[in-house]
Amino acid sequence: MKIDISAVNPLTCASPALVIGCCEDETDEIFSACNAALDGCLERMKASGEFTGKEKSSRLIHTLGKLPAERLLLVGLGKKSELNEERLRQAAGNAVQALRGARVGSFASVVHRAGNLNAALEAVCEGTLLGSYSFEQYKTRDNEARFSFQEMTLLIPADADKQKCRTRVEQATCICGGVSLARDLVSHPGNIVTTGYLAETARELAARHHMKCEILERDELERLGMNALLAVGRGSVEPQRLIVLEYRGGGKNDHPVVLVGKGITFDSGGISIKPGAGMEEMKTDMAGSAAVLGTLSAAAGLQLPVNLIGIIPTAENMPDGTAYKPGDVITSMSGLTIEITNTDAEGRLILCDALHYALTCKPSVMIDLATLTGACVVALGHEASGLMGNDQRLVNALKKAGEICGERLWELPLWDCYGEGMKSDIADLKNAGTRDGGSITAGWFLKQFVGKTRWAHLDIAGTAWGSTARPYSPKGATGVGVRLLIEYLKGI
Ligand code: BES
Ligand code: MN
Ligand code: ZN
Repeated sequence: MKIDISAVNPLTCASPALVIGCCEDETDEIFSACNAALDGCLERMKASGEFTGKEKSSRLIHTLGKLPAERLLLVGLGKKSELNEERLRQAAGNAVQALRGARVGSFASVVHRAGNLNAALEAVCEGTLLGSYSFEQYKTRDNEARFSFQEMTLLIPADADKQKCRTRVEQATCICGGVSLARDLVSHPGNIVTTGYLAETARELAARHHMKCEILERDELERLGMNALLAVGRGSVEPQRLIVLEYRGGGKNDHPVVLVGKGITFDSGGISIKPGAGMEEMKTDMAGSAAVLGTLSAAAGLQLPVNLIGIIPTAENMPDGTAYKPGDVITSMSGLTIEITNTDAEGRLILCDALHYALTCKPSVMIDLATLTGACVVALGHEASGLMGNDQRLVNALKKAGEICGERLWELPLWDCYGEGMKSDIADLKNAGTRDGGSITAGWFLKQFVGKTRWAHLDIAGTAWGSTARPYSPKGATGVGVRLLIEYLKGI
């Protein structure tokens, strides 16, 4: 969807629909002016409870020539005192859902004010762009049901700095482009998004944004001793790869922020095979890598003044005569030996080699993102990603970024005692313990490979895919991680 900016008065704005926000406990001048133009219709709807202004509420009406806009969409902003940017994103998302239902593809929207105009503008753009996302590439019939948005005109106050507003719109568009890329990658099935597809995507991003991209293939991984990554992919015909994508926006001598993303293009569980029900969802097991690619794309588009390296270990976890199996002992790149007790605990294996490899980049911080454990879904549901780390400042900075952008994180402890269950009789470590504290023991395992480098781990198993729609995240892939990391990077 294209976003345009205009300083025209909402009351004189001609458009298929005009969107205005309204709080449940207070109305503003635009509401009053529209109400007057519509002969008191809006006040009546409020009095009768047809439109409450509560969050998640909306109401679309025809203006029958009483306003230049053909329709008026009222969206609820909830309580005035609770109005913040997240509420604006949600309201904008609800607005596009209502417009999609009515098949209105072009509209104008007032920038509902929650404090700062620029921040509100960005929030409305994000809610709109993310809320209007759909993934229909594999639908060949039902063309009639298809619908896509064309344009939104954002109505800004006459005295606002138009150029500044334009820049903010461009920035929001850039960030949402990164989120959409991540959503697309996660939405595509595993027979399309293979390890080669991820590598090709990284190469394309590098070409578009003048970034450096290196793909380490099997022989190179063998030479480096990345046996944990190699083991996981051994049962698949799709070759394992390590993707390294580098964006340099910072100073020549600035140590990079390294982002590591789990790229399992399909997780069958391997020889420790998963039950059949719901296994199709395991095409999303590369959501961490999608977030890393989306973030690099957005960071380069925004020209953020940081040095950033994305590292993606990618493989497909399949059972086969050649597959790795329970009882195997593997020597990871770090030299630590690992007894395989469950081939379904594959994420930590590909990540431990990638994290060890990442140390050679001398990172200022490392952040990994992974759909790592079902236990994290049990603990936090779909509302927050699990957060662990070895540096409280980094953990706090990420938490704060999550609060600001609406991708919330919840910290779990990484105490040494959690390592007890990960000791092996035959090797240095085993790759899976009991079910108890499963997200933490997975995090504890990763911690053994980061040395003294400041590091944080995000378990996005519960947040990468939504089986129900949210205001600005339709059912399916959420693209979680991109906005969070951009917000974090903006702050450093
Ligand atoms: N990819 C899964 C985790 C997952 C589960 C992601 C549900 C998204 C939704 C991961 O590789 C896995 O299978 N983890 C195991 C670990 C266990 C064997 C120690 C799990 O969580 O059951
Ligand atoms: Mn698994
Ligand atoms: Zn997995």
